[in-house]
Amino acid sequence: MLKLVDVTPSDDELLKVRIMMYEEPGIREVFNGRGDRLATSHKVYIIMNDNQEVGFANLVFEKQNYDFYFLDMGIKENYRGKGIATEVLQTLKNINSKPIIIETRENNTLANCSAERIGCMLMSKDNKNYYLLQREHYNEFIDNGYLDKLTEHLNEDKDKRFLYK
Ligand SMILES: CC(C)(COP(=O)(O)OP(=O)(O)OC[C@H]1O[C@@H](n2cnc3c(N)ncnc32)[C@H](O)[C@@H]1OP(=O)(O)O)[C@@H](O)C(=O)NCCC(=O)NCCS
Repeated sequence: MLKLVDVTPSDDELLKVRIMMYEEPGIREVFNGRGDRLATSHKVYIIMNDNQEVGFANLVFEKQNYDFYFLDMGIKENYRGKGIATEVLQTLKNINSKPIIIETRENNTLANCSAERIGCMLMSKDNKNYYLLQREHYNEFIDNGYLDKLTEHLNEDKDKRFLYK
């Protein structure tokens, strides 16, 4: 059974997520060196499946952007292809009211597959795809001017080292 364990910033458990980001094969290639993402988290979860730690999900508010969250997620290689990411996306969607943006590299087929299954594509920029997890709120997202805010946020002149790998 799948379970999301909420990790608070002061918790030693946060170290487990950091280790997954920095050391886990298949995950470190995407998140190594991105410890700053943990420092700007709204929520960090360890993903448990049948009492095994199988991955993490991190909802990040990049810098001062509080209008929506960006999702970082990693599933350990041994547990992939079983629909775990898809189930986590569905769960996150149900427990969060703010829009959640999934940023993937255009060539990250597995991530694009899981993002597309639940969410919808907003745009592609600088070899990255941006998806809205709450697909059914797409019109509201546009009407609220969030797409413009997202574009503005991505265009900001900022230190990319802290935002993108
Ligand atoms: C992206 C990621 C989270 C997906 O995790 P997952 O639990 O395997 O995803 P799911 O099982 O829900 O499957 C997602 C899709 O990938 C496919 N897939 C997963 N592993 C696969 C494999 N080894 N071979 C072929 N297809 C595979 C699934 O079949 C599914 O595709 P479908 O929707 O067309 O059926 C995982 O690959 C990962 O941790 N990647 C490294 C970190 C990363 O890139 N994160 C995304 C950026 S936030």
